Amino acid sequence: MNIKIAPSILSADFANLERDIRKIDTADYVHVDIMDGEFVPNISIGIPVVKAIRPVTDLPLDVHLMIAKPVRYVEQFCDAGADLVTVHVESDFPENIHAALEKIHAKGKRAGIVLKPNTRAEAALPYLKECDIVLVMTVEPGFGGQKFMADMMPKVAQLRAMLDEVNPDCELEVDGGVDTATRDACVNAGANVLVAGSAVYKASDIPAKIKALREG
Ligand code: DX5
Ligand code: ZN
Repeated sequence: MNIKIAPSILSADFANLERDIRKIDTADYVHVDIMDGEFVPNISIGIPVVKAIRPVTDLPLDVHLMIAKPVRYVEQFCDAGADLVTVHVESDFPENIHAALEKIHAKGKRAGIVLKPNTRAEAALPYLKECDIVLVMTVEPGFGGQKFMADMMPKVAQLRAMLDEVNPDCELEVDGGVDTATRDACVNAGANVLVAGSAVYKASDIPAKIKALREG
């Protein structure tokens, strides 16, 4: 399988974001973590920063919205330059999650859902046909540098099996605590997009780390 690497710029130096985005130019996606201090107990960056980084890379921007009621803002993130936008299934009522996915698609962008660790795979079922990507959190969302939850792997495998039934081209992404020691478990469970924040940005040789994460 073709494994894609999505370094999370949450672990970059925000005072040198352009420099740090150029450091990951051998990756496949730039993973951008948006936190609102309400859906998660942390605040990161928002729409103006997505807009500012859009011209500094040719890589697709994979925007992970950890915000309450994301349907209110998805169009603005698309207009700011997001290529993929993912919303948490826990962040609003189902009709608003469907509406968010529809708005992202109407902007011509790729859309997806995210599941927190305590959310069962079945919660994704109503949305799977509408998704270009499904993201399984392997830490509690909110912070970088946490320990990988290996017990999420059955959920990843379950989602891969569910997707194979209804939407085989859909990507399956994991996020949190992914490093060279944990990537095999993710890939074996069926993930094809690996987010890695601290593993990439703490590496002394970033292109080599990206290659190692991709190739195992
Ligand atoms: C956590 C974020 C992650 C985080 C991953 O809420 O969604 O994308 O940046 O960081 P690491 O790879 O350090 O766990
Ligand atoms: Zn993320």
